[in-house]
Amino acid sequence: MQPLRHFAIAIDGPAASGKSTIAKCLARELGLVMVNSGAMYRAVTWKILELGIDPHDSDSIINALQSMDLHCGVEGNFSTVAIDGKVLDEELRGKEVNQAVSIVAAIPYVREKLVQMQRDYLQHTCVVMEGRDIGSIVFPDTPFKIYVDASEEVRAARRSAEGVTDSVAARDKADSNRTTAPLLVAEGAIVLDNSDHTVASAVAAALDILRSQGLVCDV
Ligand code: CDP
Repeated sequence: MQPLRHFAIAIDGPAASGKSTIAKCLARELGLVMVNSGAMYRAVTWKILELGIDPHDSDSIINALQSMDLHCGVEGNFSTVAIDGKVLDEELRGKEVNQAVSIVAAIPYVREKLVQMQRDYLQHTCVVMEGRDIGSIVFPDTPFKIYVDASEEVRAARRSAEGVTDSVAARDKADSNRTTAPLLVAEGAIVLDNSDHTVASAVAAALDILRSQGLVCDV
């Protein structure tokens, strides 16, 4: 499944636990590409809402996804996601997308298609990929797996400090309870509690975990 020359670091965890920040810093420090798998689920959700499709209407979502021009790329150290040639960014963090994304992400066909696109990154590059099922489903064979957690209070406070309306607890519940690829601590993953870390100390702790899992690096 994975070409031998490229490897993946899997960073999973609940909403607003700080996994994106840690993954970005790791990508910079290690010279890898940071792939935000959540942005892919958000992009599909954004397009569905643009098309006026009800997020609960799985059949229409599957049809729309089959004809959608969804492209995942790389710019510098980061993944990009575009639909119909438009690179999406700010629009992915809106309130409507926050409310609907966990519903769309629970559809098995959506996951199948996006997981394939996530695995395809390894054909071109080594990645730090963050999400919910990266260590369990996308790259179960990678030895490099971290589960970033933080207390519910810290996570809710982080999101509201960003000025975003996001029901973190509701999304976590939906993500953890779904049948397909639920949020969980993958086999072999080490939990990093990010409730009291600074960014620098969290990244240092992540590097220590990765070294303990066999990553050879000189940072
Ligand atoms: O904003 P936050 O970092 O909390 O979430 P995100 O990584 O942008 O992911 C948004 C949503 O996409 C999650 O709440 C999940 O429903 C879904 N997701 C998923 O199902 N699997 C992934 N690998 C990544 C995200």
